[in-house]
Amino acid sequence: MKNILHLLATDLDGTFVGDQNSLKRLLSHYETLTEPVSLAYITGRHRASVAQLIYEESLPTPDFLITDVGTVIYAGPHFEEDEEWKKKMSKEWHPEQILKTAENIPGLTCQDLPNKRRVSFYSEGSRPAKVLQKALLKNGIPHNFIFSSNRDVDILPKGGGKGEALKFLIKKYADKEADILVAGDSGNDLDMLQAGYPAVIVSNARPELAAITGSEKLFRASYPYAEGILEAWQHFYGNKERL
Ligand code: GLC
Ligand code: MG
Repeated sequence: MKNILHLLATDLDGTFVGDQNSLKRLLSHYETLTEPVSLAYITGRHRASVAQLIYEESLPTPDFLITDVGTVIYAGPHFEEDEEWKKKMSKEWHPEQILKTAENIPGLTCQDLPNKRRVSFYSEGSRPAKVLQKALLKNGIPHNFIFSSNRDVDILPKGGGKGEALKFLIKKYADKEADILVAGDSGNDLDMLQAGYPAVIVSNARPELAAITGSEKLFRASYPYAEGILEAWQHFYGNKERL
């Protein structure tokens, strides 16, 4: 699938997923368009967990899937893993050193994940997360640190994250003139919301996105969940659709 002309790149929990009626309205709007809008799900979940959510919420099958906070990219009809990205994400990646650093920090619980493409924890508030971040820096362990929802700590390979993964995907698959909308609601979406594409923060966003000011390219929706995405899509592309 190359030269995509229209792309919605969206987080799932709290953004695309959260209100079924809103989602129906967004998808019905896309059905009225003459050209299809490709879908990329960009989530903190791992692959099996996304599959479960797609099933439970009857979500449309996406064209692309970026999981594990932007450390794994799947594309193609069988959702094959992108090997180039995998290689990039394996460079200077030492999960065992991260686990060792976190071992004795109180208030951190390691998340039970099916692979070590990222190392994630639950933090009891922000303090343990900050202690870990400091220790990783002090030990010179290359990483990208993401904190969301005042609880989730994701330690990613350097150069990883939703924003970088999205840039990689767009470069590889989208037309230079493509209509793109990025949507999110929490801390792990921040880098992709600020990646330079038209983007929307849905109105139900977590407090950690409250301080982010809107700009020409970053729209603050007045509606929550998928309704906010629809509002932003019309804000950025509505005039074009009415031509
Ligand atoms: C999702 C994932 C979790 C991750 C969090 C924040 O909840 O299941 O592993 O830490 O997103 O990215
Ligand atoms: Mg979310």
